[in-house]
Amino acid sequence: MRLMRDNVEMTQPTLTTDRLVLSAPTGDDVATIYELCQDPIIQKFVIPIGPNYTIDKAETFVNKVVPMIWDGAHGAEFAIRRKHDNGLVLIGMAGISLPSGELGLWLSEKHRGEGYGREAITAVMDWVTETAKTLEHFAWSVLPENNASIRLAQKLGFGYTQSRDIQDQHGNTVTLLCGALGTGSEWPSYADLPTRSGARPETSK
Ligand SMILES: CC(C)(COP(=O)(O)OP(=O)(O)OC[C@H]1O[C@@H](n2cnc3c(N)ncnc32)[C@H](O)[C@@H]1OP(=O)(O)O)[C@@H](O)C(=O)NCCC(=O)NCCS
Repeated sequence: MRLMRDNVEMTQPTLTTDRLVLSAPTGDDVATIYELCQDPIIQKFVIPIGPNYTIDKAETFVNKVVPMIWDGAHGAEFAIRRKHDNGLVLIGMAGISLPSGELGLWLSEKHRGEGYGREAITAVMDWVTETAKTLEHFAWSVLPENNASIRLAQKLGFGYTQSRDIQDQHGNTVTLLCGALGTGSEWPSYADLPTRSGARPETSK
């Protein structure tokens, strides 16, 4: 994947942390992304993935969407791999949209709760801070019942700024909680939020 900036040809970089290697996904990752995204928690909480995720969607994401984002300077999507596995096994994805600074992240079920999410998204934020000229601020959007993601946002220093209605892939209106780094207020407690139907969806693990 190549990008011309200021007449310099740039490829999406590889980011490394203590335990992780982050790089653009390749065609070899399509099947793994498809399999991991059969997880109902990912389908529910990562709105662009959504229910009924197919191998075609994984293929389009890797071969079309990821290069389009990078080539258009609209951000970057990184496959997350562990050094422990010699950087071979994809365990999740982390990405950012520019200039909005909207971050996105998911990890395979068996690799959650080990600090990998925080490590991966911190690496993406550090890289953007060093390189992006178009960043407005870092932003986090999350479904109100996604405790793990809200906790991670809090730990990273994101405050709650507003709620926002969006349309999901089926045209249903979904309310997201939005946060920004280093500003905003306490995140609302899920129990305090108004419901549309009166029923609370199940919470994340
Ligand atoms: C959200 C998600 C990416 C978090 O990644 P993770 O690697 O499990 O999170 P980490 O282990 O880095 O935890 C970061 C912090 O959040 C807290 N946290 C993580 N999961 C939590 C949970 N289920 N409940 C409460 N706190 C939680 C941890 O205590 C940790 O704080 P610490 O560093 O002070 O100990 C992961 O749960 C996931 O992939 N969920 C499904 C997809 C998803 O919801 N993506 C986000 C869409 S907005």
